[in-house]
Parts: sequence; structure tokens; C-alpha cells
Amino acid sequence: MSILIKNIKTHNQMKFNLTEEQILVRDTAREFAQNELLPGVIARDEHQHFPDNLVKKMGALGFMGIMVDPKYGGSGMDTLSYTLMIEELSKVDASAAVIVSVNNSLVCFGLEAYGTDKQKEKYLTKLAKGEYIGAFCLSEPEAGSDATSQSTTAIDKGDHYLLDGTKNWITNGGRAQIYLVVAQTDKSKGHRGINVFIVERDTAGFEIGPKENKLGIRGSDTHTLQFNGVKVPKENRIGAEGFGFKFAMETLSGGRIGIAAQAVGIAAGAYELALKYSKQRKAFGKEIHKHQAIGFKLADMATDIEAARLLVFKSANDKDQGRSYDTSSAMAKLYASKVAMQHSVEAVQIHGGNGFVKEYHVERMMRDAKITQIYEGTSEIQKIVISRAILKD
Ligand code: CAA
Repeated sequence: MSILIKNIKTHNQMKFNLTEEQILVRDTAREFAQNELLPGVIARDEHQHFPDNLVKKMGALGFMGIMVDPKYGGSGMDTLSYTLMIEELSKVDASAAVIVSVNNSLVCFGLEAYGTDKQKEKYLTKLAKGEYIGAFCLSEPEAGSDATSQSTTAIDKGDHYLLDGTKNWITNGGRAQIYLVVAQTDKSKGHRGINVFIVERDTAGFEIGPKENKLGIRGSDTHTLQFNGVKVPKENRIGAEGFGFKFAMETLSGGRIGIAAQAVGIAAGAYELALKYSKQRKAFGKEIHKHQAIGFKLADMATDIEAARLLVFKSANDKDQGRSYDTSSAMAKLYASKVAMQHSVEAVQIHGGNGFVKEYHVERMMRDAKITQIYEGTSEIQKIVISRAILKD
């Protein structure tokens, strides 16, 4: 299967084939997933082990800053290539994929688009090469979906801000060197009183709290973070005063493309295993795929995954063409995450009793799928974004 948008930089129409570079990215990620991610994936899930060495290797392959300009240490690829990479990693290890996705979409993208030259030189170059890992800190105990209701405050003290508050469920929270932290600078201004700050790991007053014991994506690292009077230099604010909310929303729109690609990968990984199993396992005298009950399930899975992938490609293409991608990324995430959840459950069902056993991988994929309907905006948030867009006139 090779459906893709060709010559993204110069043409506006969809063409149904991949460029050579995009194929190379996809195949490199596929090979890496099979050779490097697969061997330890069950143990990492079971023991909640973060794949430090594998992240370094993904950095060396150019995955950690795949869309970043090469002058800042990135690979200079398009968003479509990014989704192909994330899909391939997620087919095998959705935890590794989210580490990469957050670094690319939620940290590198915003820094490259809105950071100062100094911020880019100091932070982006290392993040893009995978020498640093980044985290994006928006969610709070009382502000996950309702992003304007930030309790974390940043008080302007002249040459610096004083940051106080708690952030929850932060991906890469315990491993990052660089944290983009969303905080309220002036509550009376609503969303225009929100800013985003770059906080370095070793800053006084910054504490990494407990690691979450999660249902899925257990090989990724999710923490509560505490900011107690953290002094942030003014030069570490991203963009003009009051730009933080828009920065966060735009960043999250791109992040949703990555999570949608992750969801497609989980669904496709589970489907491929179910397909293979259905050709090996016999029941009632024949391979189970020859029973229509299983053949129809596989047909539904293949169709829905293809549809989800096309939505992902559409939103990636919107971004690459410079068009608005808020709605298309919300649609891609909404649909792909539903497909991932539904069809990872079906993959377990096709595996029967073996599906309930860790060594067959599909139970992990089913657990991993759930988070794609929650993080970077729940499915309900995606419906808010989509319904506002279609009802706005
Ligand atoms: N790009 C740029 N600007 C945007 C935007 C976007 N995508 N979306 C909204 N804005 C702007 C609006 O234009 C508006 O600006 P003006 O007032 O100047 O016109 C401003 O932001 C406020 O917009 P809204 O009135 O639409 O804001 P809202 O309070 O109604 O919220 C929402 C909208 C869509 C519900 C938003 O709060 C949201 O997306 N919430 C979910 C947040 C989220 O995804 N949380 C997940 C945490 S991060 C995570 O999971 C990371 C991880 O670790 C994996």
C-alpha cells in the first residue's frame, strides 16, 4: 500500500504515491521498529522502562527532530514523513512513538516557529538531534481539557518571572531536559494572560514528582511536576506577552496529527498480527480467516485503518501546504483513535485466548490504544473543535 501526497511543496493536489524520500523514512522506521523496538517491548511495558538507549538511536537516525530545519540539527522532512515514521514506530511500540511525537510536535515545532534565534540555538539544536528530550506542560489537576483555566502562575518580576504551580500527566516528564510550561501571567486577561516558558531541568524550585503507573504506553514516562518559586529569565518566554494560549493551541493541533498517526499505527500493528494469526490458527478444520466471521472482521479493520490513514495524510498535507489544519487534525485524531480502540479489541478477539497473553502483543496494543482517545485533547475536545468549525457561520 502506498498512498501519498506527492511533491508536497509545489503541488496542491493529492497524488497516490510516495516520494522516494518518504519511502525511505517509512522503511527506515519500519526496520528500526522490527530490529530495535520489538525485542524488548514486552519487558519495557511490564516494568515501565523508559527506552533511553533507543531514544539516542532514534536521535541519531534523525527521528527526534524530523521536521526541523537542518540548520538547527533536524532532518528537514515534511509532516507527511513524520506521520509515516510515527505510524511505523507505533505498529510495534506506541510508547517509543509518543516520546518521539511529543519531542517533534509539541516541543521542536513551537520552538522553531516562534522561538528567538537564541532559544533555537540554545535548545532546538539539541532537541532536534535527540541530545535533549523535551516535554510540554499544559495539563493541571483542574485544567486538562479546559486549557484557559491555568492555576500555574508566572509573576512578572522585571528581568524574570516567578513560576508556581503543579502540572499533571506530563509525557517525558522524568526524562526531559527542557520543559515548555504554560502559565497564567494575568488572570483578568483570560486566555490573553497566558504565556509559555522554557524551563531547564536543573532550575532551582523545579521538582519532578511521582511517575504514573499507567494502563498503557507504559514504556513512556509520565510524571507530575512541581514548580515552587522557579525563577525563569524573561528571555525564556516564547513569543510576545500573552501569546501562550495561541501557541499552545497551534502546537496541539500539530500534535494531534502525530497522535492520529500513532493511533493508525496501533490499529495497523494489531491488524497485521491478527491477519497473520488468522492464517496460522486452525479451527473447525480450516484456518480461521476462512471463516466468514473472521474474514469480515479483517475486512472492516483494513477498510477503517485505510480511511483513518487518509485523514492523517490529509491533515499532514494541510499543514505542509500552509493551510489551516485545526479541523482536519481534530478529525484525524477523533477517527483514528476510535479505529485504534475498536480494532485493537477485535485483534484480541481474533487471537482468542492467546490474545489475552502478553507474548502475542495485541493486549498491549489494546491498552495503548485507549490513551489516543484522551491525550492532546479527548475525543470530546476534538468534537468541540470540529463542531465549532462546521457551525461557525
Ligand atoms: N491555533 C491558534 N489559535 C487558536 C487555536 C489554534 N488551533 N485554537 C484557538 N485559538 C485561539 C482562538 O482564535 C481565540 O483567540 P481570539 O480570542 O484572539 O479570537 C483563543 O485561542 C481562544 O480560543 P477559544 O475561545 O476557542 O478557547 P476555549 O477556551 O473555548 O478552548 C478548546 C478551546 C479547543 C476546548 C481548548 O481549550 C482545547 O484544545 N482544550 C484541550 C487541551 C488539550 O489538548 N489538553 C491536552 C494536554 S497536552 C498533552 O496531552 C500532552 C502530552 O503530554 C501528550
